[in-house]
Parts: sequence; C-alpha cells; structure tokens
Amino acid sequence: MYIFDSIKKELEDILNKEAGSLKLEIPPEHVDGDFAVSLGDPNKTKELAEKINGKELEFVENAKAAGPFLNITLKKSKIYNEVIKEVKKIGEDYGNSSSGKGKKALIEYSSPNIAKPIGVGHLRSTVIGEALARVYEALGFTVIRDNFLGDWGTQFGKLIYAYKKWGDKDRVAKNPMEELKDLYVRFEKEAQNNDSLEEKAREISKKLEEKDKEFEKLWKEFRNLSIKEFEKIYDVLNIKFDHYTFESNFVQKAKEIIEDGLGDGRVKETETGTAVAVEMDGLPSYVLMTQNGYTLYIARDLAALKGRLEEYKPDVFLYIVGNEQTLHFKQMFAFAKKAGYLNKKTEVKHVPFGMVLFGGKKMSTRKGTAVSLEKLIEESVKRSGELIKQKSPDLTPEEQDKISKIVGIGAVVYSSLRQSREKNIVFDWDKALDIESASAPYLQYTYARINSIIKKAKESFGESEVGGNHFEFENESEFELVKQILIFPKVVRSVIIFNSPHIICTYLEKLAHLFNSFYNDTSVIKTKDDNLRRSRLELVASVALVIKKGLNLLNVDVPERM
Ligand code: ARG
Repeated sequence: MYIFDSIKKELEDILNKEAGSLKLEIPPEHVDGDFAVSLGDPNKTKELAEKINGKELEFVENAKAAGPFLNITLKKSKIYNEVIKEVKKIGEDYGNSSSGKGKKALIEYSSPNIAKPIGVGHLRSTVIGEALARVYEALGFTVIRDNFLGDWGTQFGKLIYAYKKWGDKDRVAKNPMEELKDLYVRFEKEAQNNDSLEEKAREISKKLEEKDKEFEKLWKEFRNLSIKEFEKIYDVLNIKFDHYTFESNFVQKAKEIIEDGLGDGRVKETETGTAVAVEMDGLPSYVLMTQNGYTLYIARDLAALKGRLEEYKPDVFLYIVGNEQTLHFKQMFAFAKKAGYLNKKTEVKHVPFGMVLFGGKKMSTRKGTAVSLEKLIEESVKRSGELIKQKSPDLTPEEQDKISKIVGIGAVVYSSLRQSREKNIVFDWDKALDIESASAPYLQYTYARINSIIKKAKESFGESEVGGNHFEFENESEFELVKQILIFPKVVRSVIIFNSPHIICTYLEKLAHLFNSFYNDTSVIKTKDDNLRRSRLELVASVALVIKKGLNLLNVDVPERM
C-alpha cells in the first residue's frame, strides 16, 4: 500500500468512512494544511477534527475544520522520509497499482484509413490510445492494442478508378501514401466537372463488393502498402499493435445484423428498399444498407463491435475516436444494447477528442490540406536539433542527433496530450518546443538537469553520495516536492476514471515547476551539511524518477543528457 493510501486509510478509519471513499486533495496555496478533505456538511467538520486531534496517528499531525473542509497537516518529517524511501524501493514501478488485475481492456486506437497518409487527427487518437494503454497496463489490466483499419467504403471505387486512369505503378510503389492521396484528390477535383465519374466509381465499388478479382487485388495491394507505411510511423512512435481489425471483414456480418434487426423491428426497410435502423433512445434513425445492398460504415462497425466482444470478452472496451463521431457511437451502442450483445459485463466507451487545428483550420485529405504525421515529426526533429545545438554545443553531433530525435518526437506526442482531451488543439511550434514551460522539452530538460546534478555530486563527493536512509529537509519547498511525489499513484489511478492522460501532463508540469523553483533557491551540491545534501540529492533523484515514469506512461522518452 502506498503511503498516500495509508494516510487516506488512517483518516477513513477514524472518520468511519468506507475504504477508498475519502477524497484527499492538495489545497490551494493560501490554505493552512497539507491536504484538504471535502466532507460537504459544515456542521460536522469541527467534531470530526476534534476526533482526529484526540488520537495519536501515524501520518496525520492534526486536522482543522474550515467550513465544509477538513484541512489536514501531516507529520512532515515522517512523510518526507517514508516517501523518499518508498520511491527508492519501488523504483520505476512507482505509480503502478493492481486495481485492474485479472481484467482485460481492449483499446481501439489510431484506426487510420488505408490509402491516405496518417494525419494529425489520427495522431491524436494514436497518442491518446497508447498513453491509455500504458496506464491501464500500469494498473494491472491485460491490454489489447487494437487498430481498426478503415479499408472499406465507396472511396476505394474512386481510388481504383483514379489509379487505373492516371496512376503509375512504380511511382505508387515508391511513395504510396502521397501518390494514392494525390490520385484520390485528383478524382475529387475532376468529378466536380464530370458527373459520370461518380457513377463509374460506384460501379467499381459494387464490383469490389462482389469480389471482382482484378479490383480486389488492387485494393489488397493498396492495403498492404498502407500498412507498411503506417508501421514506419508506429515504429518511430514506439507503438506495437497486438491486432489489426479490418473493417472489410465485417461486410457479411453487417448483413446478418441487419437481417436480425429486420426480424425484431430494430431495422425497417423503406419503400425504396433501404435498410434503416429505427429511432432508439431518442437518437435519429440512420441508414445501415443501401437499396443495392451496400453496407454503411456504421453497420460494419456494429458487426465489428459484436465480433470483438465475442472474441475478446473484454471488461473494458475503449474507442479512441474524434468527437465528430460522437453521434455515431451513441447510435451504435444503443443498437448493440437493444440487440443484446452489449451487456453489463463490458464497459464500452467512446473516448472522444477534439480536432487538431493548424492556424485555426481543420485539415482535410479530400481537399489536399492535410499535414502528414511523418512530415510533422520530421520538422519537429529538425527544429529540436537547432534547439539542442544551441543548448548543448559541447555534445558530439551523434549525441545531438539522438537527443533531437527524442525531443522532437516527444514534443509532437506531448503537445497532442497535454490539453484537455475534448478540446480542439492548435498546433504551435513555439509552444510544443518551449523549453521553459509546459512542453515535452521542458520536462525532458528538467529530467536531464537533475541527472547532471547527481552526476556532479557523485564526482565531487564519491559514488556513495546518493544513499543513506534517513532523510531530512530544511525548507517548505522541499516538503512540497515530496507531497507532489506522494500523490503520483493517485494521479495515475485517476487517469482511467476520465480516460484522460492529460491529467499526468498537468501533474508533471507542476512537479517540474516545483522542482525548478526549489532549485532556483537552493544549491543542492553546495549544501554544507552532509546528511541534508544527501537528502536533497535523494529528493531530486525521486523527482527525476517520477518525471521519467510519468513521461513513459505517456510514451515520451527522456534523454539522459540535454
Ligand atoms: N477509420 C475511421 C476514420 O478515420 C475511424 C474508425 C474509428 N473506429 C471505429 N470503430 N469506428 O474516420
């Protein structure tokens, strides 16, 4: 049990509260207390404070009533010691828990469409999904990383038409995503002045659905090329999916679902022969299949939901998909519940996120205004290189290159995580690479800075400098740091309540900020008293460890030097 949980339990026991029910928060600065507990009823807090103060407790020094709050003061030197010892002992597993032990979480994320470059919208899904996967794992869940590949739809009729008419095999093989995207964009452009193109594309789509040999071969080729390209990016981001789910595998099963629905009135056939899902839970009805038997995205998605529930029997099933698809998921879940394949055993959730905007505009592949993820990362690494050269001119070019990669990739990943998930984010280079605050480079730099302090201390005072097992502090700023470290396990656990990794970003930025203000006032290495200096070194080592661990949960790497 973490020290944080022990403190909580101590209070819960004495207040006769159910285990885990008490909310302990770090209060705003002006409040006199280390933690605040909100009890709601201002008439009772006085009495409860007296109850706490009447007992000798292990971690809690005293409690003060303040309206509906209890302000708790901790036994500071005890906590200081125990927390540093705890972090030392647990090391890089600090923050892990076992609440998800024996449970399975299926996380669907990234889910790009084939024959299009992965754009920054899919980037957001990819990085949020990977961060959540890591956090669920840290909490003991067995995690299945699933990538739902958009490999079906009328757009492939268009693409095949464009490829056959204007495409060049060698050029596509060389640079598949850009070429295929250009072909698609060209189709859209030419179709504006030529009505017959849409019709021709529809015919191809229909034939593809009927498994026409030539078209199927082309389409599979596009898919293979696409997966290869996607995996280059996943490699750069250090992401490995356990599974690809192909949307195209669910065409037949979607038809079965529609058949079933027609049987019990969930699906109706219109006069023209279109299959429509009826209104459910007050949500608008929608088309599942056209009159010529062409299934729609939602029908295939429903079948894929059913299929995966049967295959994986997950306890938690998360869809990390942009908020423009919120209605889609509501409709899908309502249908699946009515149909009976979605039940209480699985908690299914759409985890929506806002768009990524560039200069205030949304990107569109169709209009050719999308920025590919590959280019974005390239640019970020380049810009980080300039930053590193300026910050660390003494490093070798190889070291500079290696660090630029870590920083450049980290900056892109972190900047799509740090804001609240549901907000639209505006990508801004100056902010993403701001070494002074609120960015991956800021946290990475803080980490590397601490490493260099420790290294210097070892050089000046010998290998044994970090060590010992009684730790002391002098200033409130040191205790504040320990308090922030103390709550880390709770912060990690709260991520899965909201499925919001940015909670970790907010936490880490505060930790780094507390460290930097401590370090501005206090020279660790010049501390005269041996034990105080050793304690401070252990303190900053703990900060570094938590920064590294927190960033690791977000899939952001740290350089040892910077
Ligand atoms: N491929 C879709 C798109 O890019 C996202 C798929 C999301 N997942 C799902 N099960 N519908 O818009």
